[in-house]
Parts: sequence; structure tokens; C-alpha cells
Amino acid sequence: MDYDSVMNLALERGFYFPSGGPYADAQAGFWEYGPNGVGLKARFVELWRRSLVRRAGMMEIDGSQVMPPSVFEASGHLAGFTDPVVQCTACSATYRADKLLEGDASLHEGSSPSEIDAAVAARGVSCPGCGGALGPSRRFNMMFGLGIGPGAEPAYLRPETCQSIFVDFPRIYKTMRGRLPLGIAQVGKSFRNEIAPRQSLLRLREFYQAEIEVFCNPNRLDDIKAFGEVAGTAIRLHDGSATREVTCERAVETGAIANRTVAYHVGLLAEFYERAGIDMKRTRFRRLSETEKAFYATTALDFEAEVSTGWLELVACNYRADYDLSGHAKRSGEKFEVMDGDEKVLPHVFEMSMGIDRSLYTILEHSLREDAENDRTVLSLRPHMAPVQVGVLSLVKKDGLAERTEEIYRSLREEHSAFLDHSGAIGRRYRRLDEAGAPLAVTVDHQTLEDGTVTLRRRDTMAQERVRVADLAGAIRAEVAFPAA
Ligand code: GLY
Repeated sequence: MDYDSVMNLALERGFYFPSGGPYADAQAGFWEYGPNGVGLKARFVELWRRSLVRRAGMMEIDGSQVMPPSVFEASGHLAGFTDPVVQCTACSATYRADKLLEGDASLHEGSSPSEIDAAVAARGVSCPGCGGALGPSRRFNMMFGLGIGPGAEPAYLRPETCQSIFVDFPRIYKTMRGRLPLGIAQVGKSFRNEIAPRQSLLRLREFYQAEIEVFCNPNRLDDIKAFGEVAGTAIRLHDGSATREVTCERAVETGAIANRTVAYHVGLLAEFYERAGIDMKRTRFRRLSETEKAFYATTALDFEAEVSTGWLELVACNYRADYDLSGHAKRSGEKFEVMDGDEKVLPHVFEMSMGIDRSLYTILEHSLREDAENDRTVLSLRPHMAPVQVGVLSLVKKDGLAERTEEIYRSLREEHSAFLDHSGAIGRRYRRLDEAGAPLAVTVDHQTLEDGTVTLRRRDTMAQERVRVADLAGAIRAEVAFPAA
């Protein structure tokens, strides 16, 4: 399915929509999740906790979204978290210079304004909107600045969730009796003042991240006890020209992945996305070149998924070495070394920084299909991911069926996400549930009043069976349970 079909579904079925409603001053890059989007996101995060955080014995924190300038001086974001911009001297439109100059081999992630100006002049680039001349470029910091209290003390909205993980690391290691390797995870919002937000969830200014920072002893990067669990897990590695499928074990043996710490977590990540319902044949771990990777990364692999708009980065897997802990130790004067047995070490960090919004978009696009034979659109979410687990419908409203339907709905809704729908043709109500991805629908009819059974319909096969009302909760539970590792 294509981007427009997903967008249409998102708007029509309450997954997501633009923020600001009818107001003309609503800004681009801010979107809101409706009830079905919230449900899908909640299940995604729960699966992430099960498949990564809890499976690997990590700890989770919930840090502040507002942080002081010192944090971002230490992290390098005040100096380095910038995009180059150019402005048209005629119409004042502003553009990301690196996008206008895409493919120019003379430029890289940190190109200076004079290098960019030289490239603009050499290629004769003008304003794509009006053809006017472009002014000199400058570097634009993408953090949102804030003024705290009446004195407007400076602070920033975090541009990534992980900085509190780094700042808090010594405290967590001590108070939670940590041992290396130690994964610390966080899910929450981050904020980036993108120059060109676009395509709804694909490039936002306010967005959800699920980040994992694995603190490890750089001398023991192959010392991962649970590696055997993912040794045979297949991943697709892309080296810039070709993609090949290898097991995690083989990736380490051949040097395609540097060590077991990275391979173990990459294997868990692949298993997680497979369970989340992404078509893994349309994914790859792409090794970033020196000019592409972020300023803090020693090596970087992006986990990407293919969607109708192209390849989309879902997770940045960065080996950050001791960049962050050294930076915070230096800026704060505090100690960030810890004991690993008898050895005192400044841990290295392997990071998996996941974009939740883009991941949800990909799940929707990979799950949406036309079922022409049955004249319907189906969102084939894995049952454990579905925001509505069961629709509860009355065949007709009269003869006490509406009341019995509502009783059944009330008995289910505390444990299951249930959706009550009385009105309209039954076929049309099934179609709406199919589009919302509900794996099951229960229909109450006259036979229900006689023998206490209902019809249970399955979304994918459209097969129907009679089930006793007393067995309904158990049948739904079996269908929507999260898969075990
Ligand atoms: N923490 C890395 C990122 O946000 O991309």
C-alpha cells in the first residue's frame, strides 16, 4: 500500500491527525494520535519492553524532557546539533542546504558554511521555489530553547532521550546494583526544530523515541552470556551496494559486525520487529559511511525498512564508545567510572535509538492490504498489536439484543480493548473493524438469548464459529497474547 492509503486510513480510523485542528497558525511537524494510534503505540511499547528491555535484563528510567545547557554543552549538541540552511534572497524561503546539494561528494555531515557556499556557487543552485538567488548559508541549531521562570533561565527541550540516561548512569549503577553490561532504556518524547518537517509521522518536530544505551566494558565486548539465544537469528546487512542475509553468529565470525555485544542486541532488535509485524524481507541494517554518521558515533548501523516513499531509518544503532560519559565527566567534574569486578572502567556505550512514530507508520503500511475478492480493505496487524482486540456487535438492536450486547461488552472491556457498535448494516460494521485491524468480532443474535452462544468472526479468514459467552474472554486472550521469545 502507498503513503496516501495509509494517510487516509490514519485520518478515517482515528490513528493520527494533524495537531492544531482548524487553526491557521498550527505549525507543521506536530501530529496527534487518536484512540487507535494510542492503542497501537501502547502495544508497540509493551512489545519493546518484553522483547528488548526485559528479555535482556535492562533497566528503564523516565527522565525530564527539559534539561539545562550544561548537559548539551557536554553532549556536543550546542555546538554540533546543527543543519546547514540557506535562505532565498527574493522570497525568503529557507532550505536545508545539504538536501539542495544532495549527492555532492565534496560535502559531509559537518561541512562549514564556506564549503557549502562554494558548492552552491559551483553548481549554480538557485531557489527551487522562485528561482531567486540563495544567500550565504549558516548552521541552524535544531534544539528548541526555553526560558525557565520569570528570569527566563535558559534550558532546552531534549533532542534525544538518551542524555538523561548518560547523566544518571553512575547513580543507577550504584543504587540498582548494576553490573556490566548494563542496558538502560527510556521511552518518551524528543523535540527537534526540523527545517523541513514532512510526511506526517515520517519527519516530526515532536516525536517519540525508545532508546536503549548498553553500557559495556570495552575489554569484554564478546562476553555476552545470552548470545546463543540469537546466534541463529537472521539479519539483512547492507554494505552500501549489496544486501545479504546472515545469522548474528556468522556476522561476528566474518567481522561484518565487530563484536557479540552489538550482534546480540541487533539480533534482539530484528526479532522484536518481526513480532511487531514488519515485513523483515523489506528491512536491512545499513552501515553508514564516515560522512553520514552522527558526530558522537564511532560506527553506525541504521535499521531501515522499505516503504512506499523509499528506505526509512527506524533505528540508529550507534557505537558511541566513551564519548558521552567522558563528556559529562569533564563538564560536571563527577566520576563516571564504575567497577566491573576488580577492574575500574569508563564504560563504552552501544545505543539503539528507535523512532516509534516511523515504526508505527511502517507497521501500518506493511499491514494494510486490499482484499478485492471480498471487496474490503484489511489492516492485517498481528493480533497482539491490534488497538481494538474485539468488536462487539448486535445483529439488530431490538428484542433485547442491544442490552445483551452491552452486557457482554462491559464484561470484556476491562481486560480487552473492545469496541461496541450497534448501528448500521452488519457487513459495513465488519468492514470498519477490518480497517481498524481488529482481529476478532463478536456478534450477538437471537440464538444468543436462547443458548448463550455468540458468533466469533476472525478478520483474516472471515470464518465464523459459535462460542459460549462464558468462554469468550479466554478465546480472545488466546488470540491476542504476546508471543514468547
Ligand atoms: N540518540 C541518538 C538519536 O537520537 O538519534
